[in-house]
Amino acid sequence: MITRKKWQLVLITVSIIFLYLLLHNKKTAKTSTTIVIYNRIPKTGSTTFANAIAYDLYDVNNFHVLHLNMTKNRQIMSLPDQQFFIQNITRWSERLPAFYHGHVAFIDFQRFGVANPIYINLVREPLERLLSHYYFLRYGDNYRIGLKRSRSGNNETFDDCFARGGKDCDMKQMWVQIPYFCGHFHFCTEVGSKLALETAKRNVLEKYLLVGLTSRMRDMIGMLEVTVPEFFKGALSHFDGLDENRSHLRYTKKKIAPNDQTLSMIKRNEVYKMERELYDFIEELFDAVFKKATNGTSNANDLIKIGPQFHFEKIKPL
Ligand SMILES: *[C@@H]1O[C@H](CO)[C@@H](O)[C@H](O)[C@H]1NC(C)=O
Ligand SMILES: *[C@@H]1O[C@H](CO)[C@@H](O)[C@H](O)[C@H]1NC(C)=O
Ligand SMILES: *[C@@H]1O[C@H](CO)[C@@H](O)[C@H](O)[C@H]1NC(C)=O
Ligand SMILES: *[C@@H]1O[C@H](CO)[C@@H](O)[C@H](O)[C@H]1NC(C)=O
Ligand SMILES: *[C@@H]1O[C@H](CO)[C@@H](O)[C@H](O)[C@H]1NC(C)=O
Repeated sequence: MITRKKWQLVLITVSIIFLYLLLHNKKTAKTSTTIVIYNRIPKTGSTTFANAIAYDLYDVNNFHVLHLNMTKNRQIMSLPDQQFFIQNITRWSERLPAFYHGHVAFIDFQRFGVANPIYINLVREPLERLLSHYYFLRYGDNYRIGLKRSRSGNNETFDDCFARGGKDCDMKQMWVQIPYFCGHFHFCTEVGSKLALETAKRNVLEKYLLVGLTSRMRDMIGMLEVTVPEFFKGALSHFDGLDENRSHLRYTKKKIAPNDQTLSMIKRNEVYKMERELYDFIEELFDAVFKKATNGTSNANDLIKIGPQFHFEKIKPL
């Protein structure tokens, strides 16, 4: 009698464990492990963008969002840190699928024997970006009002700074977007490196799904919706529904356009020309991809309307 009862108990326990494992396995097997990395560049509208596509959507579309805070705002990781980062985020199952954003240069997962995640980014015209940064340090923005910026109290205009050869308006300060795309090689931060520019261009082509433009954020959001729907389904209509304060979340409080003399000198500067070359390269690429995806209209509203232009047939076995 006792043994029979014991056997029944064991049988029930085993079945429960079996069922649990079956269901659990099914669940984990279904869960997506997609990772999107947005290695955001300062002063390109990245806060607005990150909020509109990640913080407003993670709950609806069921993904995780994580900010990668780099110690002392350095955008470079050591090689051991890169390995640690890659192992951590690709195996952290409770935090998958995941959207990571942070001020970090491009990290090539393939060099560590791991497939790359989906990389996305936004770029801004380099002089505009520098001016925004320059005045942001002095006057702050409408986002964190009252926060004392590192140059607050300093009211020097960009023109005056440029005329006296100041540090904040030095063209070396413009070398920003190239290193973000070039990545972690030592030459990436070497101002004026031709190899850095070439590497940046190649990475944009080969490693990024999409790089959009700050001036066309809406078009970029539309493209993301139709290329990474798992994360960004509904992103465009969400963005359109934001009031002006949210869709232009941060703007530098005061900005003074440089005069013609400053402008003509900047335009002849080698560093500016190289950063501008990368920007133009990205713009042309985005333009072409966007035009194709909208069937020639270049109107983001058409992205969703156009269905797939292919179908399957002759499927066997029936
Ligand atoms: C990053 O972390 C540091 C130290 O914890 C903190 O002071 C800083 O505000 C963080 N940065 C951001 C952008 O949250
Ligand atoms: C990744 O890092 C976080 C924070 O340090 C930690 O809580 C988590 O357990 C790590 N995950 C893996 C898979 O190592
Ligand atoms: C900057 O401030 C100083 C005094 O604080 C003033 O004399 C000067 O005219 C100001 N310059 C500009 C461009 O506003
Ligand atoms: C945007 O913010 C400003 C200042 O906080 C406020 O006066 C204005 O009404 C807001 N606009 C909208 C459309 O919410
Ligand atoms: C794409 O554009 C062409 C030419 O304007 C038009 O004939 C075609 O119907 C469009 N296709 C779709 C799917 O809208």
